[in-house]
Amino acid sequence: MAPLSLRRLRLSPHIRDLTREVRVHLEQFIQPLFVVDGIANREAVPGLDDVFRETSDTLISQIEHDLENGINKFLLFGVPAEKRQAGFDHAFTAARIEAVKQRFGADLWLGVDVCLCSHTTHGHCGILNDAGDHVVNDATVEELAAAARTFAEAGADCVAPSDMMDGRIKAIREALRCSGHDDTLIMSYSAKFHSSFYGPFRLAAGSAPAGDTALKDRATYQIDPARPGDALLSSERDDAEGADILMVKPGLPYLDVLADLSTRIPKPWAVYQTSGEQAAIDLLAKHDLLRRDVAQRETWIAFVRAGASMIISYAARRARSCLSS
Ligand code: PBG
Ligand code: ZN
Repeated sequence: MAPLSLRRLRLSPHIRDLTREVRVHLEQFIQPLFVVDGIANREAVPGLDDVFRETSDTLISQIEHDLENGINKFLLFGVPAEKRQAGFDHAFTAARIEAVKQRFGADLWLGVDVCLCSHTTHGHCGILNDAGDHVVNDATVEELAAAARTFAEAGADCVAPSDMMDGRIKAIREALRCSGHDDTLIMSYSAKFHSSFYGPFRLAAGSAPAGDTALKDRATYQIDPARPGDALLSSERDDAEGADILMVKPGLPYLDVLADLSTRIPKPWAVYQTSGEQAAIDLLAKHDLLRRDVAQRETWIAFVRAGASMIISYAARRARSCLSS
């Protein structure tokens, strides 16, 4: 028998094109957007290329630009002007949703983040007890369900709770059903880990835990990196409670979790390539230690290989050129 030549199928770009098992398409991408109340000009997000804290006006012009570049699916993070402890106000985000939908209609798909960390004085994803050392689950869930309903009413195609409270998917599904928004999708951050790779996001969303409370980080509500079994339980629960799309977040450090969960639970899987992961690529590129767009594509191939059907990426708006470079 002739010796196995694996290199024969690697020798030209044409045969490499023909033999790929995994392909990444422009249509799989979701671009995160930050819109911030009370700023006069848009601001660059530290560490991330081409990502901004948008004003209400630049939000619209940035989306126009993204549509021209073949990106028509978005995940919106609304950042209010004022921080509070209670009585959260989602009117600013709701108004932005209405404006986007009025301008672009069904030309785009709009997911909207549901959480409280951009709203709270302490930066935690929920309401704290008086001692400031514990996030109160059920009171938080009630607030989240109300926010989700407000966003659905404003025209969101999908609501995406990122808080990690127990029982929020059930409460949100019920709130949507009762308000006549049965067709609004829920994308659950079902396997969201307590990660170091969220840094630039917290600057963009004004949501870093403030450090003036007893609770210093999000370890009491996000999944421990050493507990993949917890991610399975969390995703099975959110599936059962009515989530339409499940998610693993961050991406590269949790590819094993994505590969495992996506074969176990037959729902669409999203992966969130987080701000810290993105900043790592952008920074290496700035130091000429990798070619940014080529490296970017390699990470996206990994996500699809591991079972993601959609990719939330800060570089989505560069995807067309990344995929052809
Ligand atoms: C907060 C939230 C975070 C992200 C999305 N929603 C960060 C966090 O939990 O502190 C991460 C996004 C990123 O880093 O890109 N609920
Ligand atoms: Zn949060």
